[in-house]
Amino acid sequence: MAPPLTVVILAAGKGTRMRSELPKVLHPLAGRPLLGHVLAAADALGPARICVVYGHGGEILPKTIGRPDVAWALQEPQLGTGHAVSQAMPHVDGDGSVLVLYGDVPLIRAETLQEMALLASEGAVALLTVELADPSGYGRIVRDARGQVVRIVEHKDAAAEELAIREVNTGILCLPAAKLARWLAGLGNDNAQGEYYLTDVIAMAVAEGERILTCHPAAEWEVLGVNSRAQLAGLERRHQRNQADALMAAGVTLIDPARLDVRGELLCGRDCLIDVDCVFEGRVVLGDNVTVSSHCVIKDAEIGAGTEVKPFCHIDGARIGADAVIGPYARLRPGTELAEAAHIGNFVELKNAQVGFNSKINHLSYVGDATVGRKVNIGAGTITCNYDGANKHRTVIEDEAFIGSDTQLVAPVTVGRGATLGAGTTLTRDAPPDQLTLSRAKQLTVPGWQRPVKKHRDK
Ligand code: UD1
Ligand code: CA
Repeated sequence: MAPPLTVVILAAGKGTRMRSELPKVLHPLAGRPLLGHVLAAADALGPARICVVYGHGGEILPKTIGRPDVAWALQEPQLGTGHAVSQAMPHVDGDGSVLVLYGDVPLIRAETLQEMALLASEGAVALLTVELADPSGYGRIVRDARGQVVRIVEHKDAAAEELAIREVNTGILCLPAAKLARWLAGLGNDNAQGEYYLTDVIAMAVAEGERILTCHPAAEWEVLGVNSRAQLAGLERRHQRNQADALMAAGVTLIDPARLDVRGELLCGRDCLIDVDCVFEGRVVLGDNVTVSSHCVIKDAEIGAGTEVKPFCHIDGARIGADAVIGPYARLRPGTELAEAAHIGNFVELKNAQVGFNSKINHLSYVGDATVGRKVNIGAGTITCNYDGANKHRTVIEDEAFIGSDTQLVAPVTVGRGATLGAGTTLTRDAPPDQLTLSRAKQLTVPGWQRPVKKHRDK
């Protein structure tokens, strides 16, 4: 059995360049805090424990993230990355290994970390490094004539020839816990920044005859950190592009992969098509052959096979059957359930409403707290008056009813099977099945009436 792995996530830093009240690691990327992405990568390794080192922002961090299974170690004051890791050591199993991650490096892949954890479990010190065209600001990886890593030198402490090194420390490393504990105890802060550098453990390891093994990310974006809102936006686009690529590889047509935002989980069947500028939030499931036209926002929804969502729809907390047609400009609110072949047209709002097979609500309607049967036709401008100012009431419309245009259904009220309501009806009592019900003032024509004419003033 592999020795227990503890993942230590450093997240105590201030993030000054964000110019924000919100702690940096709580800024969202794809709708989830940066720290949430790092936690997800850590979770994927199945570690014995995760410990987050926090400081700036204080208790907002553990409260917002809400992970009681995570150990939270307060670092106050912040005296450097070595000092930060020391705060986590009481939570570390000394028989195992420690993987250090940064809370502001959100796109790190679990596959990359897996390789490092394996090396550390065999007793090695594994360091994640990358070659950058512009290495300024980063710690440089110093190697000897044989190419072995001998130490890391921080940018601010580096000599001119060291500044020319393009291989840099990503900050991510994995090593046996007992050795780490010993080296941390020996750290000093005699350097340009007066900090306890975690990076100094590398030279200490080498002095004890350890070999440092370097690993590399599959792509540079994996190890990029967020220090500013511009960098945050850059990584957001990168992440969205990665998700778009994965969807296309799985058989989804994206009209423009640069104009898709998935802030959560989007699961698609075969041959779905998504047009430009759509946003998916929470968990969205599309069946086979679903089309989502441009400018739709879809959250926590299931959409059945063959359904077409036309442009500019807002769908939240809805379940839609197969072969339905939605929109353009439809709003489906939580509790909406549409059966197969339902048609919901423009400027129609549904809330907590169940609509049966092949029923149609095509224009300008509000249907809330309602049960609508099969093959019902609801005319333009129909409104369920579900709220009496204090309580909500249900409207029931049975199968094959026909609701004339501009009708108000004052709930609680039931329209019987096959009933017809005349246009303009205000229904306050149940309408019996198979009959015409209407409430309407009698039409009247006034004989001999004349339009008034405009008076002309005398000059
Ligand atoms: C660090 C590395 C550098 C590496 C770079 C990669 C050290 C000494 N240097 O430098 O070699 O190239 O990262 O980005 O390790 N943090 C704490 N507590 C502290 C200090 C930092 O939690 O007291 C956290 C920060 O929130 C951040 C991470 O550690 O997530 C790195 O800190 P930062 O100050 O950005 O380190 P760098 O100077 O960039
Ligand atoms: Ca940094």
